[in-house]
Amino acid sequence: MKVLLTAAEIYPLAKTGGLGDVVSALPKALHEAKADVRLLMPAYRGAAAMAEAKPAASLGDFHGFGETVILEGRMPATDLKVWLIDSPGLYDRDGGPYADATGADWVDNDVRFALLAWAAARLSQAESPLGWTPDILHVHDWQTALAPAYLRAWGGPAPGVVFTIHNIAFQGNFPSDLVPRIGLPWSFFTMDGFEYWGQLSYLKAGLVYADKLTTVSPTYAHEIQTPALGFGMQGLLTHRADDLSGILNGADYGVWDPAQDKHLAAPYPATDFVRGKAANKAALQAQLGLTANPDAPLLVVISRLSDQKGMDLLLGVMPMLIEEGAQVAILGTGDRWLEDAFQAVSVQHPQQVAVRIGYVEELAHRLQAGGDMLLMPSRFEPCGLSQMYAQRYATLPIVHSTGGLADTVVNASYDTLLTGAATGFQFDQPTASAFQWCIERAIALYRHPDQWRRIQARAIQQDFGWHRSAASYLDLYRALRPGSAPAKAKGKRATAVEA
Ligand code: ADP
Ligand code: GLC
Repeated sequence: MKVLLTAAEIYPLAKTGGLGDVVSALPKALHEAKADVRLLMPAYRGAAAMAEAKPAASLGDFHGFGETVILEGRMPATDLKVWLIDSPGLYDRDGGPYADATGADWVDNDVRFALLAWAAARLSQAESPLGWTPDILHVHDWQTALAPAYLRAWGGPAPGVVFTIHNIAFQGNFPSDLVPRIGLPWSFFTMDGFEYWGQLSYLKAGLVYADKLTTVSPTYAHEIQTPALGFGMQGLLTHRADDLSGILNGADYGVWDPAQDKHLAAPYPATDFVRGKAANKAALQAQLGLTANPDAPLLVVISRLSDQKGMDLLLGVMPMLIEEGAQVAILGTGDRWLEDAFQAVSVQHPQQVAVRIGYVEELAHRLQAGGDMLLMPSRFEPCGLSQMYAQRYATLPIVHSTGGLADTVVNASYDTLLTGAATGFQFDQPTASAFQWCIERAIALYRHPDQWRRIQARAIQQDFGWHRSAASYLDLYRALRPGSAPAKAKGKRATAVEA
């Protein structure tokens, strides 16, 4: 099985969040399951050096935006081949994959990601200059979602295309004059194609033209078919429900394992988590300037600071946490007003509240190890990875019961405490009062160390390894292998849309 995976970020070459983690870990698991996997990403500044990539082929000019060269390299510390799209005018600049250093989106993201999708489609054709053609093209999120539209427009033999939705709130909608500029046919600019309220929607192109759709948890697969969380795409997704499935993400325990974690003050094996966590908690309190107090519950947050992540709810419960004598450590970047508001709280209560604005991989690991609880009050959460990592570090997650959070945390209730199944805490309504009540419940249990340790021991044993998810993706790929897909299903997808 030959699979080409493509995304706008792949850790460690580029990462701003969970997408980068997933498109790094899934190919490793597919490779272990004997699939022949290749990766494709833009050659952002520094990526080619990290992958030791060298020119391998030219794809020619992309509609007047310049010559596109494909560099070939290896994902660091693996055998996996990665192709990087070298188009310096579009990708070689300081800043992140989507935005400049001030957080403003690059104004040419429309073209930058059209090129990514176009290159993925070109490399999926029999005439690929790299001499390797995939059976399956697996694209992720809107930045790559035009690829199946290009393949459809060009016609001829094409691989099966799987489109994974990591977050349906991000859609890549752009003015329609882009259609001819990036070489797509006007005939696709209809309600049955990629037109969306008068704009060209990259996300919708993926939803319409990919053969199979997946998202990153079973609960989210249902939620995006509802008006509340479908962000306008619920009608189309309901229409394609037979082609849509939810495959839970995994955790990459090669990167997130407290026994091997080089970022920690004191790495600890699962069997010794009580001592290990105490040492890391003390180190974290010292590093962040919090009072050295082993008994104060230390609540950690590693998150984009945004409305999606429910960070305003967290702001609402800060007075209670301070009153309770808890400590809170927040690592994140995002909306300016939230950054400022959290910083203001920490200035007032420096011994109880530490805030670090920025993206710091090492600190994320240290928070997972030193914290007692991880807070994720997300309004919606397609999957969420941090709550899975937290469990392996014996840090108990407190989560809003939505999307992948609902699927990966077993709420501590009377029953689950009795049976020993509990791994964390959930609350049902995304309100500050429900969140507060849930945290109070957790802190009450924290004051009973025997009970608390029992939940920790259960959490640390959870296996969110990628092998299971990779097997599900392989099943899906097999069902799509050229020749095995029923012709009728192909006809249906060509016309099926209802926006
Ligand atoms: P999302 O992709 O929606 O941001 P996930 O839970 O899927 O959320 O993934 C978040 C990933 O990003 C985790 O690996 C987490 O450790 C990391 N992360 C988020 N914010 C930061 C930050 N400020 N510094 C370091 N890592 C972060
Ligand atoms: C998105 C989602 C997050 C998910 C990640 C990886 O960023 O917001 O919930 O875990 O993608 O699939």
